[in-house]
Amino acid sequence: MSLISLLGEVFGSAFEELGLDRSYGKVFPSQRPELGDFQCNGALAAAGQSARSLATAVVDRAREDERFGDVLPAGPGFVNIRLSDRFLAQWVAEMASDPRLGAPRADEVRHVVVDYGGPNVAKPMHVGHLRSTIIGDALARIFAHLGHRVTRDPHFGDWGTQMGMLIIGVQERLPGLPYFEEGRQGGYPSESPISLGELSELYPEVAAACASDPERARAARRATLELQEGRPGYRALWKQMVRVSMESQRADFARLGVEFDLWYGESTVADRVEKMIRRMEGSGRVSKSEGATVVEVAEPEDQASLPPLLLRKSDGAALYATTDLATIEMRVEDLGADVILYVVDARQADHFRGVFRAARLTGLAPFRVGLEHVGFGTMNGPDGRPFRTREGGVVRLGELIEMVTAAARVRLEENDLVVDYSSEEREAIAETVGLAALKFGDLATHRASNYVFDPERFVSFSGKTGPYLQYGVVRIRSLLARAAAENLAQAALIPPSRPAERDLMLTLTLMPEAISRSASERAPHHLAEYTYRVAVGFTRFYDQCHILSEPDPVQQGSWLTLARYTGEVLSMLLELLGIDVPERM
Ligand code: ARG
Repeated sequence: MSLISLLGEVFGSAFEELGLDRSYGKVFPSQRPELGDFQCNGALAAAGQSARSLATAVVDRAREDERFGDVLPAGPGFVNIRLSDRFLAQWVAEMASDPRLGAPRADEVRHVVVDYGGPNVAKPMHVGHLRSTIIGDALARIFAHLGHRVTRDPHFGDWGTQMGMLIIGVQERLPGLPYFEEGRQGGYPSESPISLGELSELYPEVAAACASDPERARAARRATLELQEGRPGYRALWKQMVRVSMESQRADFARLGVEFDLWYGESTVADRVEKMIRRMEGSGRVSKSEGATVVEVAEPEDQASLPPLLLRKSDGAALYATTDLATIEMRVEDLGADVILYVVDARQADHFRGVFRAARLTGLAPFRVGLEHVGFGTMNGPDGRPFRTREGGVVRLGELIEMVTAAARVRLEENDLVVDYSSEEREAIAETVGLAALKFGDLATHRASNYVFDPERFVSFSGKTGPYLQYGVVRIRSLLARAAAENLAQAALIPPSRPAERDLMLTLTLMPEAISRSASERAPHHLAEYTYRVAVGFTRFYDQCHILSEPDPVQQGSWLTLARYTGEVLSMLLELLGIDVPERM
């Protein structure tokens, strides 16, 4: 149980004894730390006018409790609670001796599918995929740490119209390839006819051509349909394009420290589509409209009207929404998902609204299965618009990592860090610091908001940045190493003797809520904020308490234990955020 829940129980009982609901006993970290550590506002909600006397009655019931230093009514009916120093130290000592460091565990284990990353065939990963990857990976880590079963799946974009475009693009360039021979059934080359670099150049070209030339657009749609219907040459070429894209993207994800449990794509469910549409027809919601198959998803009580969702075009081709629906069916039936989180750009909100509605109305997803679009804003450039290259193109993930790594290299040197290490180690540290800057720069903003990509600021060793947090952990480790070298022993935590030490202890007691809140709101940002608070708390403690020169071994041992535990908590939180810490800096 977390400290906040324990306090909620204690004050809940006080309200209950007074004939009121336990839930009024809910306790929060104090808004005014000078008045107390925690506060309970239940009396105000329960008693209105006579809240002050109710608060006094509640206080009377808690006053004798030795766990509290002070419990006082305040204002119109607040209760301010200050813990006794002894109890606070005891509580932190218990967290520090727990193998899970006091981190919470889910009451009920659920199977959470996290759909994130979202790469597409032939398109190198770019900034648009970065937020999905960073936020999605942090959420997957947080849910797994809480004890949930987690399946990470990038939902590879490999089945839509862009595939037909690529096929005709390759055909226009290299018409002699065996993939395009009519009637040929097999014997295709085992090597890809085209590299990922060439594919990614080809794609925007064909896409532009299809936009301006109806003839080419028709050819692309036709090729998409033939691919989906199984034309052998197209399937063979498609396989090669999927393979080269996937290899490069896996490498990009690995560089970010991200691994998936499944690497499924839109095409994985292609064979289910036919049967799924028949199943959906049973709901009476599916109809034909100008030759196309659609699901009516509008409901009378809708505020804004939802247009029908297209399942099959008039030529019979399946679309993005079609494979998303079949993927829901597969995740529910084959994987046994309880919740599916789609960590995807907020601009796809309408798509998911339609897809989720269709899945509910046609029974593909029973109501017990959660379907949630975890949307996010854009990463912008200094001009406040989505981040692009100077030429206006998309910035590739690799380039982005180079940018932050270069900035980190400079900053490390400026701070006289890593100077004595081998150039190899320096380079590895610069990349680890660069990645931390990139990831924390993203997580430091709530996912729903946009933010400006600012490598200079992100790599700073002071302020709310990834490198500041990494440095915090490295500093604690080196402190502990020095203490060990001088044979200074860690010892039992004693009650705090300095304000910064007490504040740090208090902050540490709030860790369980920071983790659970990030999970319940699907917002790792809260955890990022909290991690920063712990690091700042440690910096202040370390400034106020001169650990290594402290003459009293009991005091010194207690401080060392507090430092050790804080370091472990910071490492754990950074791991949950997907941020690595170098051995030394
Ligand atoms: N590939 C898509 C894109 O780049 C993102 C996929 C998101 N996941 C999903 N199940 N639709 O926009």
